[in-house]
Amino acid sequence: TGLTILMIGVAYLIGSLSSAVVICRLYGLPDPRTAGSNNPGATNVFRLGGRTPAALVLFMDIFKGTVPVYCSYWMGIDPIALGFIGVSACLGHIFPLYFGFKGGKAVATAFGVLLPLGLELAGLLIATWLAIVLIFGYSSLAAIVAVSLAPVFTWFIKPMYTVPVVMLSVLIIIRHKDNILRLLKGEESKVWDKVRLK
Ligand code: G3P
Repeated sequence: TGLTILMIGVAYLIGSLSSAVVICRLYGLPDPRTAGSNNPGATNVFRLGGRTPAALVLFMDIFKGTVPVYCSYWMGIDPIALGFIGVSACLGHIFPLYFGFKGGKAVATAFGVLLPLGLELAGLLIATWLAIVLIFGYSSLAAIVAVSLAPVFTWFIKPMYTVPVVMLSVLIIIRHKDNILRLLKGEESKVWDKVRLK
């Protein structure tokens, strides 16, 4: 319907606000698209600037996913269409209209998209992500494992959302192609591999 198409557009425009680039500018940090892992996301901002700017980026990127999906849910849009709206917010984050289409990997934004599905799912995803980061130190590996398990968790908690969650998971795993290659070669940087600033 028209409303769904409108919300897909709105989600893309909201997702396109690259908070990592904005926050790094405000904090006088290097552009996260060309420093550290070259990824405009909370992990890389943590490497570049530490906890506070990273937490702000994380919060804003999650929010970008939650707002369009929650509003659409509230308008009575059905699960599959909600999935497309969530994917659109993530595509905005990955290919941001206002930032030269050079965006991030949409891990935090996808988490935000999934938040309206309830705290049970959110808790399972956070626990999975944290466990992998604490054991192995790789944010990318933690994201890949968490998004791979997300459809399984969803199947048990809110089965009718399994297909939309699979769409999100596939998108995010594909986006981690370079990370997967680096992990296989043993060249992936860890969360706490701080970047030396000039
Ligand atoms: O959230 C992005 C994360 O999965 C990987 O980030 O900077 O280690 O490539 P990075």
